[in-house]
Amino acid sequence: MSSEVPPPTIRLMDATDLRRGFLVALGSLKPTELTDEQALDVFRRRMRSRLKTYVALMDDRVAGTASLFIEPKFIHSGGIVGHIEDVAVHTAYQHHGIGGALVGHLLTVCRDAGCYKVILDCDEHVIPFYEKLGFHRWEHALRIDL
Ligand SMILES: CC(C)(COP(=O)(O)OP(=O)(O)OC[C@H]1O[C@@H](n2cnc3c(N)ncnc32)[C@H](O)[C@@H]1OP(=O)(O)O)[C@@H](O)C(=O)NCCC(=O)NCCS
Repeated sequence: MSSEVPPPTIRLMDATDLRRGFLVALGSLKPTELTDEQALDVFRRRMRSRLKTYVALMDDRVAGTASLFIEPKFIHSGGIVGHIEDVAVHTAYQHHGIGGALVGHLLTVCRDAGCYKVILDCDEHVIPFYEKLGFHRWEHALRIDL
């Protein structure tokens, strides 16, 4: 964390964060191309599916976001796995420890929930960011486009 930049406030997203620059912050990962109304509909669907969206706030603006899905498994004796998705920090706020703080917060949530592991997919170039946070390479990611 840079010494000049205070730590962000990290909390679960609420609908008002759409007015605090949420989509712009997320856009550093990929532009969303949603209207505010469409984004609100997506937010509500995510709430219903128990997908947790977190925001990192700086001066009451959304500086970053990350999402978490907690999966109880049939295997591993009903063990719980955390899946991290869509980690993004607004370009103006990058390299000030916000991404690391967000992922660290999600790891704490996962520990408190009793997860035995936390997994995520990412591009090759971001692997060093996650390795600094304690992640290691594991298995392979695959996809099919439908
Ligand atoms: C990747 C990302 C989330 C990092 O957020 P950030 O707030 O800039 O990261 P931090 O300041 O917390 O960096 C933590 C450490 O990782 C390093 N790091 C940050 N981004 C990195 C990158 N792209 N590649 C390699 N290392 C990186 C930093 O140097 C820092 O290490 P240090 O403290 O020893 O210098 C941010 O750059 C981003 O939003 N990128 C675009 C979207 C994206 O690729 N998201 C990942 C999806 S899986």
